[in-house]
Amino acid sequence: MQPILEISGLTKTYSGGFTALKSVDLTINKGEIFALLGPNGAGKTTLIGAVCGLVRPSSGAIHAFGEDMASNWRHLRARIGLVPQELATDMFEPVRRAVGDSRGLFGLPPDAAKIEEILRALSLWDKRDAQIRTLSGGMKRRVLIAKALAHEPELLFLDEPTAGVDVELRRDMWRQIALLRERGTTVILTTHYIEEAEEMADRVGIINKGEILMVDEKAAMMERLGRTEALIALAQPLDEIPEVLSSFPLTLAEDGRVLCYRGDGGEGGGAGTTEVAQLTKALIAAGIDYTAIDIHESSLEDIFVNLLEGGAA
Ligand SMILES: Nc1ncnc2c1ncn2[C@@H]1O[C@H](COP(=O)(O)OP(=O)(O)OP(=O)(O)O)[C@@H](O)[C@H]1O
Ligand SMILES: [Mg+2]
Repeated sequence: MQPILEISGLTKTYSGGFTALKSVDLTINKGEIFALLGPNGAGKTTLIGAVCGLVRPSSGAIHAFGEDMASNWRHLRARIGLVPQELATDMFEPVRRAVGDSRGLFGLPPDAAKIEEILRALSLWDKRDAQIRTLSGGMKRRVLIAKALAHEPELLFLDEPTAGVDVELRRDMWRQIALLRERGTTVILTTHYIEEAEEMADRVGIINKGEILMVDEKAAMMERLGRTEALIALAQPLDEIPEVLSSFPLTLAEDGRVLCYRGDGGEGGGAGTTEVAQLTKALIAAGIDYTAIDIHESSLEDIFVNLLEGGAA
């Protein structure tokens, strides 16, 4: 796979002395959707800012499209789009002019048809002559996306694109992002919504306290770190786990009325559920009756929480 962005040894210490990024290495492949997940203050916006020229790195190197950003700044930046986390734009400008001007900022000639296409795709065409301040919060966010797309970037950063937007609009944006990817745009998004990373991303990076803890393909991450948990409600309470079940990862809870299985997923996700099936057979063979089984596959959210707590990875 061809890298479109290569960040190496990127450190940022703000003037107050706080180190927001600690020697970050990250490679983004052309055409992928990459989700950067991390809690408040993890360094996500700082990382994006360093690539987009809003934050001056303390050390490290950034290569985009195979070229060093430090020495080819202007022409490389023109190929990158940014949807910022904060709504910082001239609120009195009408939508269409604001979006058109963004194109000009990168030295591109006006293209009314292109701007119309972008506004229509984001359902903003009806509002094209409205001042931005008169739009709803979700529409303002869409204007930021339109502005970032106006110069047709090959690499697009979306910093919390769906913060504070309703479920319908969030799904709408996911569709827009998927469309962009189909057209070959590489997308890096930050999000607090783990569901969003789970839904959208090809790869996920987890960042905390300025350090990248893990980067992997989403599916592989979930498979490798996923867990299967099953709660088996027993017809009769047990005092202890019978010897015949000692090969299963089991504990007793609720005064022996619930048998808890915690499998490690292991080779290929499905391993846990297969083992639960074997466990139920073993229970029947041992004459242990049960009334209900609740199986739960751990999600990216569980993995994320585990990692941040420094728990078993
Ligand atoms: N201009 C600045 N001066 C000093 N410290 C800063 C500055 N900008 C950010 N920081 C600090 O750097 C750390 C990382 O901030 P950053 O905005 O990158 O986090 P984030 O991961 O984007 O968080 P959020 O999810 O809340 O958007 C925080 O502790 C923040 O207070
Ligand atoms: Mg941020």
